[in-house]
Amino acid sequence: MSRANVLLLVTGGIAAYKSCHLTRLLSRAGFSVRVAMTRSAQRFVGHVTFRSLSGHGVATDLWGEGDTDPLDHVNLARWADVAVVAPATANLLGKAANGIGDDIVTTLLLAFERELVLAPAMNDGMWRNPAVQANLQTLRDRGAHVVEPGSGWLACGIEADGRMAEPEEILDRVIAVAGGAAARDVDDQPLSGRSVLVTAGPTREPLDAIRYLSNRSTGAMGVALARRAASLGADVTLIHGPLSVPAPAALGRLIPVQTAADMAAAVAKHLNKADALIMSAAVADFTPETVSEGKLKKESLGTSWNVPMTRTIDILADVVDREIHPDVTVIGFALETEDLEIRATEKLSAKGMDFIVANDPVTNGTFGEGKHQITLIGPDGVIWKSDPAGKDDLANELLSRLVPYMARDKDDA
Ligand code: CTP
Repeated sequence: MSRANVLLLVTGGIAAYKSCHLTRLLSRAGFSVRVAMTRSAQRFVGHVTFRSLSGHGVATDLWGEGDTDPLDHVNLARWADVAVVAPATANLLGKAANGIGDDIVTTLLLAFERELVLAPAMNDGMWRNPAVQANLQTLRDRGAHVVEPGSGWLACGIEADGRMAEPEEILDRVIAVAGGAAARDVDDQPLSGRSVLVTAGPTREPLDAIRYLSNRSTGAMGVALARRAASLGADVTLIHGPLSVPAPAALGRLIPVQTAADMAAAVAKHLNKADALIMSAAVADFTPETVSEGKLKKESLGTSWNVPMTRTIDILADVVDREIHPDVTVIGFALETEDLEIRATEKLSAKGMDFIVANDPVTNGTFGEGKHQITLIGPDGVIWKSDPAGKDDLANELLSRLVPYMARDKDDA
């Protein structure tokens, strides 16, 4: 289900190594990816690495050497819907702003006429240089989308501005840009025109001004599902607790919350517009009855501390009223250590869900990283059992199975 063609242009900075990960993220998000590199970029990462990651030859030369065809600088420019320069060095920005084409990358940029995303990366002095900023402004004025560099450790050994944005942030910008400009075929955008509400991550229930109760959810699955839904054309709202993975900043609406009550209120507010709700958040089931305003001192607590707690509102059971919202496709998650499928199926009917994704943290070992196995269950039983895979791949496969229900016209229901 390829969505758009992305041409990744890699120039010569240490951040070129991050573009390897970006290549993989772009492919997993459903884009067709081709890569071109400057000679200096190849001093940092070999073209064979990008050939393996993209599954295609890499354009490295204007004259048809290596993987390259002599007409690549025209053909690839015509083929691409979005061109991403990552890292974009000061030198590249200068040439692009002034119409210079003296290698495969700059010549491709001259011939390219669609959406351009730039991810600058350089030393902080170069980044502040007025000539560099003027070049960047020229490119912005011509419509380029700039993913601003962040602050962090630079190759020159200091912590300062100029570090290339993380690949996840660049991916989100490409998704946002491609969503608006490059949808060429409705088959590529089956969720176009649909609003998808996703919840992700843990909630935090405060005990006092300093302490809270929470759980080990990272939010990785919910974030991956939100990204994938956006790449399939959906208008995504992500309501999330504190995440251990980067928040997908370019994905439309991000609503950060802390407590189960905050999350319930945010879901209630956004449910009216939603065609689908994906409740992947690990919502706390209990919250401390009282929250101390200051920091509780251990002297006043004594040698043991019993915390009276009350049940939180159950969002799926109590906020999502299927009589008021009969058309919303509701997908929940179940974390069970025993009788996984039986208990998940019970939850599906008790909470009025259309589908439930069952997850066994014991078999799966850890939260977050690593390979997980999930089972998708509907009202008539098991629909799909995944092979063990990473969360990005699971999110892609899960959504491809749910899309027919999420994209269906309400009259068909
Ligand atoms: N959920 C919810 N509101 C809560 C707690 C959970 O909407 N207050 C949702 C979760 O987001 C998930 C589903 O309910 O999609 C099942 O969550 P899970 O924690 O597995 O089950 P619980 O119903 O909370 O029961 P238990 O923890 O006892 O297994």
